[in-house]
Amino acid sequence: MELIVGTFNERVLKCMVALKETGASFELRKAPTPSTTPKLAVGELTLNTANSICRYVASNAGKLAFDDLAVDDFVEWEERTLRVALAGSDKAALSSVIEGKIRATSFLVGNAMTLADVVVAPVLRVALNGLPADKFALTNARAYVANFFAIPVVAAADSFVENKGLAPRTTQPLSKDTAAGKTFDHLQGIIENLFDEAIHKAFPGVLAQYNIALDVARTRTQKFGDYQCNNAMNIFTALKGTSGAPSSPRDVATAILAAMPENNVIENLSVAGPGFINAFLKKEFIGTRLETLLQKGVHAAPSKKMKIVIDFSSPNIAKDMHVGHLRSTIIGDAMCRILEFQGHEVMRINHVGDWGTQFGMLICHLMDVFPNWQEVMPDITDLTQLYKNAKQRFDEDEAFHKRSKDQVVLLQSGDEQSRKVWNTLCDISRKEFQKVYDRLGVSLYEMGESFYNPIIPKVIKMLEDQKITEDSNGAKVIFTSKYKQPFMLVKSDGSYLYDTTDIAALWYRLNEMKADWIIIYTDYTQQDHFGLLFEVGKMSKILDPSKHRVNHIGFGTVNDESGKRFKTRSGETVRLVDLLDEAKARMKEQLTSRIASGQTSLPASEVDAAAERIGYGAVKYFDLSQSPTTSYEFSYDKMLSTTGNTAVYLLFAYARLSSIIRKSGVDMKTLDTKVLKLADPHEVALAVELLQFQDIICFINKDLASNRLCAYLYNIAEKVQLFVTKCRVIGVPEQNSRLLLCQATLKVMQTCFQMLGIDPLDQI
Ligand code: ARG
Repeated sequence: MELIVGTFNERVLKCMVALKETGASFELRKAPTPSTTPKLAVGELTLNTANSICRYVASNAGKLAFDDLAVDDFVEWEERTLRVALAGSDKAALSSVIEGKIRATSFLVGNAMTLADVVVAPVLRVALNGLPADKFALTNARAYVANFFAIPVVAAADSFVENKGLAPRTTQPLSKDTAAGKTFDHLQGIIENLFDEAIHKAFPGVLAQYNIALDVARTRTQKFGDYQCNNAMNIFTALKGTSGAPSSPRDVATAILAAMPENNVIENLSVAGPGFINAFLKKEFIGTRLETLLQKGVHAAPSKKMKIVIDFSSPNIAKDMHVGHLRSTIIGDAMCRILEFQGHEVMRINHVGDWGTQFGMLICHLMDVFPNWQEVMPDITDLTQLYKNAKQRFDEDEAFHKRSKDQVVLLQSGDEQSRKVWNTLCDISRKEFQKVYDRLGVSLYEMGESFYNPIIPKVIKMLEDQKITEDSNGAKVIFTSKYKQPFMLVKSDGSYLYDTTDIAALWYRLNEMKADWIIIYTDYTQQDHFGLLFEVGKMSKILDPSKHRVNHIGFGTVNDESGKRFKTRSGETVRLVDLLDEAKARMKEQLTSRIASGQTSLPASEVDAAAERIGYGAVKYFDLSQSPTTSYEFSYDKMLSTTGNTAVYLLFAYARLSSIIRKSGVDMKTLDTKVLKLADPHEVALAVELLQFQDIICFINKDLASNRLCAYLYNIAEKVQLFVTKCRVIGVPEQNSRLLLCQATLKVMQTCFQMLGIDPLDQI
């Protein structure tokens, strides 16, 4: 690779030294003009600016743990907050930005130099130069910068990779209860903790010192173990060339294995391949965790309680809810349930589109078609048709077009007559939306665009006072450093837009509702809109990334089997109500024929209710089991299939376990959980799967991929399938223990179903 350096700054220099350490060979060239920004060419990729080079080097040299939030947080802070403050003229603000972040330590994260220092220190030095010490003391920051630059460049780079023996272990020892399986802690966290301790004992401080992320994962093949630790290889690479370095990754693995503390959690550790360490969970530990689950129910790992706004569904008044809104409604509802389950305060917000420009034409058209609307408000059942007719006139009739536009201004300024018609339109739509919500069992609190109308002037003034708005041909806009297109605050005719209500909503949710976290679900085409919104939020300090978390999930489209957007035969958007009813009807047919062929003892009187639950559940599950951000193909046949990762398959597995318990005739309440003994490998495999519950939830909290929950349920169902075919339950000596395992499985599955908004049945 080739490194072209223009401005030869400390950061690039240190990166180069770090890069050398990785064994990479590169050629250094001085750029023809000194002002050229540094560039690093790596194969096809060209990295511009010192920052991206730093990131590349750090991640490739294994210096920056991929999800080391503390390091990342400083890198973000440097880019998003420090630099922005530095570019402004408000010195007090700049000083408070620094004051709030820099503590009296030699390095920003831990006690070794990390990428965070390399990135932050030089910029901080420039910032401090502009802040005279007699007015702005900033003692911590000055001491930190002085210390950083006192280290000679090469030595600094050395300490970037050396800095021996200072680093502590990254985790705290396990509590007694946790180690005994009596708590609901994140299981993966427990295993990581043990490996962290062993590694620290065998190679003190090595992970922190070389910024190596602890790498513990589930094994792919259960034959070799339940978990594996993959750190021997990168520890070996890091230590290569130092005195007393181990001679192979396997040596590293063996040393870690020998240093594993005495514990109640894992056993049978072994070294495999180049140096993977495999471990099995102890049966007693699995047993105790399952007993805890049976006694106390299914719980998430403990976490800090948050206030969370989830903005989902959010259809538009007077328009049909389409399949896109189905995704938003289903995935959004599942995320609400997942977070509610963990005890967070979730506000389920329906941000309906009730304030857009479409209302001008709708109101005008309604007044024309129903001239006596003042006396009797017309009974409109087909709002879609009304919308179509209005739109046609709007597009074709110039006078109508002009009237419609004036009507919007009237409505937005509070005109009573317009308001009355508007209310009627909203009511009609609301009733239609409710039909879908009722079928899906989804509850939402409506706070649509119009809700924010009264606070918009205040928010606009706040933005203007901060001098971040600009005039663009009579319109008010805000430019950010990240996006080319401006954020449109006010149109040149004085009216507000989608951007306007959204910045007001952001302010309201963070400042009035005091949300810690906002998640918004829409289709992917709105990605830039929300990216821009969050940028403006940060610029205006409405949004403080150190306090608030914001996510926009842009989901993919629902397509038909030929890959085109899902439509009816005649090319219209499919009405959601019809789609759900169709799924129910098909399920009803399936169940009726199961009864006819004697495959089920479901009474005929329950078919309708069962078809509804399974049919709606199938539509939901099909959607939920896809990654939220990708597109998928809609297919009734696939979603109602009894095999594969479908709701129907899972519901069958659930019903099968329920029927085993029913047939045993045992009153489960009378069973002592102590009789649970896991012996057969199929029992153990199922039990280990059940213990993953807290891990799955933790992963979803991080990446919001709610489809993980479906994959998890499917894994359980497969293990159930093996268990029930290989292990007899009723009438064997292990009966009661196995019944308890069935019950624990039902509990976990039921919790997962509940989080997905699906109602399982005991009998199908
Ligand atoms: N009504 C919009 C649509 O149908 C979604 C609104 C999402 N939420 C928001 N705060 N903009 O696409």
